[in-house]
Amino acid sequence: MGLLLGVLVGIPALWTYAHSDYVERSRLAPEQPIQFSHRHHVAEVGLDCRYCHGTVETGASAGMPASSVCLTCHSQLYADNDLFEPLRQSYRAGKPLRWKRVYRLPDYVYFNHSIHVNKGVSCVECHGRVDQMALVQLSQPLTMEWCLNCHNDPGPRLRPQGKIFDLASARTAGLEDHYQLRRQGLTDCSVCHR
Ligand code: HEC
Ligand code: HEC
Ligand code: HEC
Ligand code: HEC
Ligand code: HEC
Repeated sequence: MGLLLGVLVGIPALWTYAHSDYVERSRLAPEQPIQFSHRHHVAEVGLDCRYCHGTVETGASAGMPASSVCLTCHSQLYADNDLFEPLRQSYRAGKPLRWKRVYRLPDYVYFNHSIHVNKGVSCVECHGRVDQMALVQLSQPLTMEWCLNCHNDPGPRLRPQGKIFDLASARTAGLEDHYQLRRQGLTDCSVCHR
């Protein structure tokens, strides 16, 4: 509780910061080492999210693709293009590319991808239509209010397991029992502040 009290004192400042930051970040996509397009790779090439974000069903973090994953195709395709030099360098050095993050929670918030994905919450609920984005942009405010809004009543926002990665799919009613959702306690402070 000490942590939370300390944080409470800073609420006005944090609020202003978080919200101006949101406005700014939602308009701008950060400058990346390579201009990677989800629209091309997901909607046109047809790759599944898990091809590159391999731990999204099993871990807290979704994971980022190693350069070798990109080179599966780009050691041939555009192999001589200067655009891909950062990729080849990172592969030779054995160091991952440093992608700038778009979604980032403060350290005092606990989040876990696998829990959401396995309980029927699709990527699109939190990240928007990434499959239509040339550059990833923040699509949700990532505020506590936003998390709580769903935790109050997640039932209507779920999809069947086969539709989690299909960002164009519709929400499906009546899945609460199938996923055995918790009936209470999902808005307790200790769920997200451990
Ligand atoms: C071919 C690999 C690839 C595929 C397939 C892919 N991604 Fe990504 N994704 C990336 C890379 C590289 C980045 C980092 C660069 C960027 O932000 O665009 C990224 C970044 C993201 C981010 C922003 C993370 C952050 O905080 O910066 C989200 C959200 C995301 N991907 C969601 C998805 C979803 C949802 C799908 C499936 C519909 C998907 N991705 C499919 C490679 C991929
Ligand atoms: C399964 C094969 C495949 C993988 C894996 C793949 N790409 Fe591509 N990439 C393509 C194809 C096909 C195109 C051409 C798309 C087009 O022009 O319509 C392309 C195009 C590109 C382009 C050119 C600009 C654009 O979007 O048209 C960049 C940059 C790029 N890819 C980066 C990456 C990065 C970075 C990764 C790893 C995170 C990656 N690619 C993984 C197949 C792949
Ligand atoms: C319930 C909301 C929610 C859902 C559902 C969700 N994400 Fe996320 N995602 C987040 C949040 C919040 C972060 C920032 C996490 C942090 O900073 O600790 C994030 C971060 C990411 C990142 C950056 C790397 C990381 O793990 O921190 C990627 C990539 C990503 N998400 C992809 C996906 C994909 C792909 C799916 C669907 C299979 C998905 N997310 C589903 C909320 C969500
Ligand atoms: C669209 C709905 C939705 C959003 C948005 C959402 N969640 Fe969740 N969250 C769920 C569901 C559904 C569960 C699983 C509940 C269950 O197991 O019954 C869950 C579970 C969790 C759990 C695990 C709870 C446990 O059982 O211990 C944590 C932690 C969590 N969410 C954190 C967050 C945070 C932090 C955010 C905001 C950044 C967030 N969630 C946003 C729907 C959502
Ligand atoms: C479902 C997840 C979730 C639950 C439950 C939750 N929080 Fe949060 N909390 C967050 C997130 C995400 C942030 C950071 C984003 C923001 O600043 O809004 C946050 C930020 C905070 C902050 C920082 C000030 C602020 O608003 O920016 C305080 C203080 C706080 N939470 C207290 C609490 C208390 C007290 C409870 C229980 C009544 C609680 N939280 C329950 C997700 C949660």
